[in-house]
This record gives sequence, structure tokens and C-alpha cells, in this order.
Amino acid sequence: MRHVISVHDLSAERIVDVLDRAEGMLATARGEAVNDCLKGKVLGSIFFEPSTRTRLSFETAMNRLGGGVIGFAGTEATSVVKGETLADTIRMVSGYADAVVLRHPQEGAAKLATQFSEKPIINAGDGAGQHPTQTLLDLFTIRQQMGRLVDLNISLVGDLRYGRTVHSLAYALSKFGNTINLVSPEGLEMPGEVVEHLEGSGQFGIACHTPEDVISNTDILYVTRIQKERFPDPVEYTKVAGKYLIDPELVSKGPDHMIVMHPLPKINEIAAEVDSMPQAKYYVQAFNGVPVRMALLEMVIGGR
Ligand code: CP
Repeated sequence: MRHVISVHDLSAERIVDVLDRAEGMLATARGEAVNDCLKGKVLGSIFFEPSTRTRLSFETAMNRLGGGVIGFAGTEATSVVKGETLADTIRMVSGYADAVVLRHPQEGAAKLATQFSEKPIINAGDGAGQHPTQTLLDLFTIRQQMGRLVDLNISLVGDLRYGRTVHSLAYALSKFGNTINLVSPEGLEMPGEVVEHLEGSGQFGIACHTPEDVISNTDILYVTRIQKERFPDPVEYTKVAGKYLIDPELVSKGPDHMIVMHPLPKINEIAAEVDSMPQAKYYVQAFNGVPVRMALLEMVIGGR
């Protein structure tokens, strides 16, 4: 495995391989076992956009495997503010490190970075494009909680237009054979190419504007935040903000085995009372970023 830019680069077999290896990393991720397979290696972690989970779970993963991390979170203290290009930043960091994790506001930035990097690039989210490592931890959580990755009814809820996690997840789920429902406020529908892909592979369920329309037939309710920062016009954001709320009453209408996932951060789209319901799996999901990213780093840097 070299660069990790898009879920399109990952076959179903490769995904299952990562998830199996991540399962083997769980004890080390929890600090209950020691594994220093990346001792002496360095991860470059460069975040041009805010992040809590992705950055910190990559750093934890690298530390748990005995490696070190360099990088920045925000460009304020870097030479980017003097006008240094992404190309030169990548040339420098890839010279210092054994792999580079990149988050950037522009779609396509991670792919572009591969042209200037001597080392593997891992896409940690590129604008409204993709977030492949989030998808791997989402799939890990689904398999962990549901026991399988096939024959599931997954309802993707929220900002399907700008939410990169749902773009990556829809493509990845379709590699296994599932039914995918699309629930979004008007104007925030899933991009046409993703819908066409789901239709073409026979895995498109229904598209609607309210979760009530799908809840009784949903195994996984995957909720996302409205991506305020990606709206070209703030007035457009205010028109759709608060259009849906996942509350205990709605969750109780789902099948008993239904789980609620969210890539986080969540703002006000899930009522706080849902956090303590057994269906809520988003904090487990966030923790799973550590073993999954450990497995990925072992494969990308360790060459296993
Ligand atoms: N899920 C996710 O990407 O969270 P962060 O933006 O906090 O990294």
C-alpha cells in the first residue's frame, strides 16, 4: 500500500485486510499491550483545516506503535503564511517524515500532493471530497457492532452534498452489497455521481427529506453535521440549519438492533439525550480511529 487518497483505491479485500489487522491492534490501542513496530519512524501530520479526532487519533496511533510525529495544526506558525506553496510544503515534510497525513480545505489537494511527495500521502479529508480513513473506521465499527458488512440498510442523514464522510462511505459500502438510503434537507442532496454509482450497482434505496421516512427499515442511522464552513453563502446555511433532529423518540422508532453513528463533531443534529442510549455508537466509532489508523500506518510505513 502506498498513497491512501480515495476509497476508490481500496478493494473490498484490501479493506477487510485493514479491518482484520485493526482488530489485532485493539489491545495496543487501549494501552494494554506493547507494539513498537514503527520505532524510529516519523509521521508528518499537516492539517490546514481544524480537526480533533483525525489528527489526535493518527498521533495516538503513531505513538502507540513506537513512532514519532512532526507537523502542524493550522498554518499560523508556518511558512504557508509567507506564501509557501502546498507543493513546497509537501516536498519539505515528505523529506523529514516516512509518511504524510494531510488535511486540506481544497478537494483534490491530497491527490495533488502525491506529485510532490517522496513518501506515502494519506488523505485526512480534502474539502468536500473524500475522507478514506474515516470510512475505514466507519466500516470497522459497522462490522464490530453488526457482525457483517453486507445486507444492511444504511440511512445516510444530513448534509450529503458537502459531507465528505458520506461520499466515501457510500462508495465503500457499495463494494460489499448493501441498501443505502439518502436523507437530506432540500439543496443538500448527495452529488449526482454518487447516486448514479449506487443506482448502477443496484444498492440505491430511497432518497427523502426526513428520517421518519426510513427509520423503521434502518439498521444503521449514519448522521452528519451540516457543513457550515463549506457554504459559499452564509444565508443559504441559515435556511437549512436545524432542519432535522435525531431525538430519543425517533431513535426508538427504529428496529431494536439499529445503531446510530456520526463521524463527529456533532452540533445540534442529535439531541444530548441520545448520547446515553444503547443505540448511540459514535464515541466507540471515534475511538476505533486509533486501531484502524494503527493498522493503516503499519501497512503504509511498515510495509506489511
Ligand atoms: N470525523 C472527523 O474527521 O473529525 P475531525 O474533524 O475532528 O477530525
